[in-house]
Amino acid sequence: MAEHTEHTEKNRQYFDNLAKSYKDSFKPVLDGICRNVTARRTWISDTWTDTEAGQGKEIKVLDYACGTGVVSLTLAPFVSKIVGMDVADNMINQFNQNAHDAGFGDKMSAIKGDLLSETLSDELSGPEYSDFDIVVVSAALHHFEKPELAMSRFCQRLKKGGVCLIIDIVPDHHRMAHDFGEAEHTVTNHGFTEEQMRQLHEGAGLNEDFRYQSMNEQFVYQKDGKQRTLTFFLSRGQRA
Ligand SMILES: C[S@@+](CC[C@H](N)C(=O)[O-])C[C@H]1O[C@@H](n2cnc3c(N)ncnc32)[C@H](O)[C@@H]1O
Repeated sequence: MAEHTEHTEKNRQYFDNLAKSYKDSFKPVLDGICRNVTARRTWISDTWTDTEAGQGKEIKVLDYACGTGVVSLTLAPFVSKIVGMDVADNMINQFNQNAHDAGFGDKMSAIKGDLLSETLSDELSGPEYSDFDIVVVSAALHHFEKPELAMSRFCQRLKKGGVCLIIDIVPDHHRMAHDFGEAEHTVTNHGFTEEQMRQLHEGAGLNEDFRYQSMNEQFVYQKDGKQRTLTFFLSRGQRA
């Protein structure tokens, strides 16, 4: 496996330790994300196993920085195959356990992988890791050191016309910065505006039919002994 950057290594350590408590600690946020993905599924893409455009097609998803797999579990009934990828072993184990428990063990599984390292590992060069119909990255872009590089790496993994879906945090214009508590050292961005996401999608060649929507609700959760509030957005663009 290729070597992580120093920043990715900080994330790996932090999320490896958090993996067991992650689903419970962030429950209101994760439930909210899944609710919004479900409500906007045909806004994200028109090609699913239960839609006309997707009928009879093999629909392959990459869930990058997949964590415990909440978004994959939401999409699994409507796709053929999901590859989860993350740098934290304990997250990958949780993902695979959750997939098995939900009865999706045959179509979704996670592996350890880092698409953001300087040089990419040969293990990720096989056909099973390319030509995806959808790459989804949920609650993770704000942890990446170089979001531009990340977006172009996601573009490379998509087939032409494939959708890159980013779910992340709307900046807080009142406080300027969110309070990430003990996770602060793992964070590089305090959210992304529509304009920033447009530029990120465009810069990576993911500019076809760009769309951005705020989830228009605040998710309230407790972390490190404090009540915290976040608003999320979804953005999507297709590989030109
Ligand atoms: C806040 S969690 C989000 C997990 C999941 N996508 C979700 O929506 O619940 C961030 C995840 O990003 C992963 N991560 C951080 N940096 C990464 C990198 N460079 N490559 C792959 N995964 C990374 C962490 O291990 C963690 O599982």
